[in-house]
Amino acid sequence: MCLATAVNVAYLAAQTGRSTVLWDLDPQGAATYSLKGSPDDRVSAKKLARGKRATERLKMMTRSLHDGFDLLVLDRPPGMTMLTENVLRAADVLLVPIVPATLSLRMLDQLGGFIAHTGWTDIRILPFFSMVDRRKSLHESLITNARTRHLQFLVTEIPHWSDIERITVRRAPLPAFAPASPAARLYARLWEEIAACIGEPVRAR
Ligand SMILES: Nc1ncnc2c1ncn2[C@@H]1O[C@H](COP(=O)(O)OP(=O)(O)OP(=O)(O)O)[C@@H](O)[C@H]1O
Ligand SMILES: [Mg+2]
Repeated sequence: MCLATAVNVAYLAAQTGRSTVLWDLDPQGAATYSLKGSPDDRVSAKKLARGKRATERLKMMTRSLHDGFDLLVLDRPPGMTMLTENVLRAADVLLVPIVPATLSLRMLDQLGGFIAHTGWTDIRILPFFSMVDRRKSLHESLITNARTRHLQFLVTEIPHWSDIERITVRRAPLPAFAPASPAARLYARLWEEIAACIGEPVRAR
């Protein structure tokens, strides 16, 4: 998952009453940076990424967090690495931001193929479009075609807006520094869709 999604979704989940952990598994630590956190070597994603046995720990660690929290948001590094495979094993839901581009959609197909091949089919894949520019006819046609082929796409689309880019400048979730902005409202809608899929009621605080 990309940092903008992880940071905003985790914030909105916490705001609606779920006890939430955001775990930055990307060794580049962009989500940590975006929340003014400092890296902690003891729980470094680099250690989890080292080898197959080390990454088995991820499932064990997420299991132990499972009992204490309502939601665990894992920001995974890009690419199909060993760590990603272990995230797929540990997660119930995989949020997949898709830029309307052929290669991004191809990655979604590859992911579906990989999951079918491994048999880890109890994971729920929730793709949604991000970085969308509806003025581009290519975005329009790619989105229309993809929605026909992949019925599980969430309805909410996140446009390519500069408010969202500011997350790494303000170092805060968008709904925290610009709660009334159209972009924050779209993330709130995205979160409502995710909350409906993961099945628990959204409780107001
Ligand atoms: N819809 C958007 N519109 C504008 N800027 C965005 C949007 N989504 C993300 N960004 C910005 O782009 C930068 C990269 O964020 P992104 O969410 O793509 O995460 P990432 O973790 O770098 O991606 P990946 O893990 O796939 O490499 C950040 O500065 C973020 O604020
Ligand atoms: Mg990332």
